[in-house]
Amino acid sequence: MALEEKPGVKSSSSIVPCFLFVELVIMAGTVLLAYYFEFTDTFPVHIQGFFCYDKTFSKPYPGPDTTSKIPPVLIYSLVTVIPTFTIVVGELCAFFTKAEGSKEKTIVTADCCYFNPLLRRIIRFLGVYAFGLFTTSIFANAGQLVTGNQTPHFLSACRPNYTILGCQSNTQYITERRACTGNPLVVISARKSFPSKDAALGVYSAVYTVMYVTLVFKTKGTRLTKPTVSFTLLCLAMIVGVVRVAEYRNHWADVLAGFFTGGAIAVFLVTCVINNFQQMQPRLSLQVAQRPESTLGMPMVTLPCVESPLEKLSGPQIHDICSATSQHPDFSSAEMPY
Ligand SMILES: *[C@@H]1O[C@H](CO)[C@@H](O)[C@H](O)[C@H]1NC(C)=O
Repeated sequence: MALEEKPGVKSSSSIVPCFLFVELVIMAGTVLLAYYFEFTDTFPVHIQGFFCYDKTFSKPYPGPDTTSKIPPVLIYSLVTVIPTFTIVVGELCAFFTKAEGSKEKTIVTADCCYFNPLLRRIIRFLGVYAFGLFTTSIFANAGQLVTGNQTPHFLSACRPNYTILGCQSNTQYITERRACTGNPLVVISARKSFPSKDAALGVYSAVYTVMYVTLVFKTKGTRLTKPTVSFTLLCLAMIVGVVRVAEYRNHWADVLAGFFTGGAIAVFLVTCVINNFQQMQPRLSLQVAQRPESTLGMPMVTLPCVESPLEKLSGPQIHDICSATSQHPDFSSAEMPY
């Protein structure tokens, strides 16, 4: 998962399992919460009233979600399979094209890492992706329960007896909690509309995958592949939203809110949490970047920086030494004899 070793493998090796444990606990908590929202009625839905004969809620009942043109099973499979496939293939390609180019990088990485770097990246990106997927599901479900906004087919599912409720005009507002005579389960699901969960999951998955493809695929010849894959995925996500509206399962506002939720979570995770899919250890880039320097310019000053990681000094010190070499009086005086 998002296991970030601090520079200095030796010193932090006892802390890393702790971080890993915390992340596993957070992940398990997220999955559990998503499960409770999705499959149990632990959290009750907010009961909203309605206007008699309200046209916005009077669309025909389209049947349960499983009879939709894009049933939940299809969405969940696509949302799982497409990003997993893309990331695994992308990482394999990136790994093998990079390994040919610079052998040094591989050696340095293998020297300091617990896992195969390829496996590490795949686990990290897929772990963060799964975390975001469950988070999106929680956000959408929580929004639906808190707002209790009805679907366009609400009145068809609710089937209120207007005679008993005494409805004469469509300006009369019904707050009676037991106004509905329809199937209670159908009525409850007809109270969950804002935001659209299917739209949120679809856009989350699409945006995460599109950002991955755009930011990681660097090979030449992908100039048209990248936009093609991106537009296809985004179109699929849009189609999910359109079908939700067309089948009277959601309003446009629900779908747009779902798009926003999923898109925002994906963008946040990619830019702030996994650093645009780039290498995260400053130590690696430091070493690789400094190696040429030591052979080219100012060997007196930079030599200790290169050698100290090999002597397995603790991490923060390496950084301090490197950044302070130019100013540190003790260090420069110690260098003079050489
Ligand atoms: C509504 O309630 C009235 C009075 O109980 C009953 O006569 C009528 O059949 C009900 N209408 C429907 C559509 O259930």
